[in-house]
Amino acid sequence: MKKLEYMKCDQSDKYYIHESSYVDDNVSIGEGTKIWHFCHIQSGAVIGEKCSFGQNVNVGNNVKIGNGVRVQNNVSIYEGVEIEDNVFCGPSCVFTNVTTPRAHFPVHGVYAKTKICEGASLGANCTVVCGHTVGKSALIAAGAVVTKDVKPYALMVGVPAKQIGWVCECGQRLDATLQCSCGRKYKEINGQLEEERNVE
Ligand SMILES: CC(C)(COP(=O)(O)OP(=O)(O)OC[C@H]1O[C@@H](n2cnc3c(N)ncnc32)[C@H](O)[C@@H]1OP(=O)(O)O)[C@@H](O)C(=O)NCCC(=O)NCCS
Ligand SMILES: [Zn+2]
Repeated sequence: MKKLEYMKCDQSDKYYIHESSYVDDNVSIGEGTKIWHFCHIQSGAVIGEKCSFGQNVNVGNNVKIGNGVRVQNNVSIYEGVEIEDNVFCGPSCVFTNVTTPRAHFPVHGVYAKTKICEGASLGANCTVVCGHTVGKSALIAAGAVVTKDVKPYALMVGVPAKQIGWVCECGQRLDATLQCSCGRKYKEINGQLEEERNVE
């Protein structure tokens, strides 16, 4: 493990790591990514372009993170978690990677998989219990506890998290018309939301 010197960017102007953060060997960091104060990026992590990691963020061994991901303060992304492009991780949101943990029966690298799909947002202080997938552009409310797979565009609230509606890709809640003021339109098919695309 090495401590990187303070650098505005790396030598090729590719990314920024604050001097208080540690980046282990064998880590890949994409262009334009910023890693702020007191972070630890562990070995084997692959981080995309134009991401931002706030204060006190830990990225575990072998974790894959896409492009344009924003991780707010005090988040640990453990091994077994995969984060796709443009995901927002709110402050102090919690991931897990063992369903029934025991201090004296360690799992030795056998971690449950958790996937956060493209464009999804995790609210402040929510928890994603491991082994589940949060669908594309879903929104998890502050403090919610996700215990099941979450549908694309679902708005999930509470403990355990329940769906109370749908959200647009842009983040706004959708009313019964399923048309957003941003111009996007959706249709519900067999309980799943799909974007309607104009074919001209
Ligand atoms: C879930 C959320 C998107 C709803 O926002 P909204 O559409 O403006 O909803 P409202 O404030 O009108 O609340 C609707 C209902 O949900 C409840 N509710 C709202 N947020 C809630 C939450 N986080 N947990 C539990 N219930 C919640 C409200 O009490 C209200 O209940 P009621 O109908 O019984 O009165 C929002 O409250 C939220 O949690 N956003 C995430 C914020 C966040 O963590 N940001 C991180 C970056 S800073
Ligand atoms: Zn919209």
